Amino acid sequence: MGRGEGRGATGRAILVTGGAGFIGSNFVRFFLGRHPADRVVNLDKLTYAGNLGSLAEIAGDERHEFVRGDIADRGLVRRLAARVDAIVNFAAESHVDRSIAGAEVFVRTNVLGTQVLLEAARAAGVPRFVQVSTDEVYGSLGPRGAFTEESPLRPNSPYSASKAGADLLVRAYHHTFGLGAVVTRCSNNYGAYQHPEKLIPSFIIKALAGQPLPVYGDGLAVRDWLHVEDHCRALDLVLDAGRPGEVYNIGGSSERTNLEITTAILAHLGKPPSLVRFVPDRPGHDRRYAVDWGKIKRELGWRPERSLEEGLAATVGWYLARRDWWEKLLTGG
Ligand SMILES: NC(=O)c1ccc[n+]([C@@H]2O[C@H](COP(=O)([O-])OP(=O)(O)OC[C@H]3O[C@@H](n4cnc5c(N)ncnc54)[C@H](O)[C@@H]3O)[C@@H](O)[C@H]2O)c1
Repeated sequence: MGRGEGRGATGRAILVTGGAGFIGSNFVRFFLGRHPADRVVNLDKLTYAGNLGSLAEIAGDERHEFVRGDIADRGLVRRLAARVDAIVNFAAESHVDRSIAGAEVFVRTNVLGTQVLLEAARAAGVPRFVQVSTDEVYGSLGPRGAFTEESPLRPNSPYSASKAGADLLVRAYHHTFGLGAVVTRCSNNYGAYQHPEKLIPSFIIKALAGQPLPVYGDGLAVRDWLHVEDHCRALDLVLDAGRPGEVYNIGGSSERTNLEITTAILAHLGKPPSLVRFVPDRPGHDRRYAVDWGKIKRELGWRPERSLEEGLAATVGWYLARRDWWEKLLTGG
């Protein structure tokens, strides 16, 4: 696909970064399914978190082009940006515990990588840029209330600090250069194709093996859970109609303590509560996150559709059925 075949041809071409990861691969499948005339260029470095197996269902789709590469590679990103009508940036180092063990790669990919993408979008005149961010940039909440898009940024982990840095660069590229950029901040996602290092898949897999489930601290940290398909639907709307320069929170309205999630997973699998093991808390562990998603509801008509009960049952079912996908990730394959 040369430039002439990309912009201006029938249908859009979008550059999705990190499209071999959890949310990115779900989004690529969702987007191609929903927009039969559009195409996706998928740029992913294939770090430990990237997995071409997550894209197997669309392997034969000619509208999907996979490019292995780094979002911080200026030359490559410039060439790809020249061919597309929009960029959706999922690529990131995404695991808080890993950012505590070593923050440098988080700054390189999440901050510098985003700047390289923004600069390429600006230089090539890409009209639309969606930055997929996180509610963790707002920091931690007390027992009541929810973050709005106006809440101050108070990130507490190297991961969330690097995401906040990227959000501010997106804001600056909009204000300084007029880039048509939008930031989304979502709560904890769950669903199919999530890496086994994350809480829900890790606990499903451990429980299946009859191993203890390590719950941080008192288990009462609260997270809001958003099904990945609800998230993809929101991102598709923002890509189409989000107002440039704006931030949109995307929440699931499904707040649960980590202990409640753990107990629900054990119940789905018919495993005993005695598998729960309390372990020392994560340093700087945020107590509670929750977002007010009234703005995306008002402006774009979005709301989450999947209940946590039904979504979690479906997710447990998926991990039971797809050992072929996750088993090799446990051994680093
Ligand atoms: N998973 C969640 O609950 C959640 C919640 C809020 C926000 N987010 C954000 O959503 C985005 C996607 O999250 P995820 O859970 O799918 O992450 P993930 O770790 O599953 O996937 C990240 C993908 O990015 C790729 N990648 C990493 N560094 C790269 C680089 N330098 N160049 C190109 N590709 C690179 C990886 O190979 C991988 O495929 C991230 O930006 C994350 O901050 C995730």
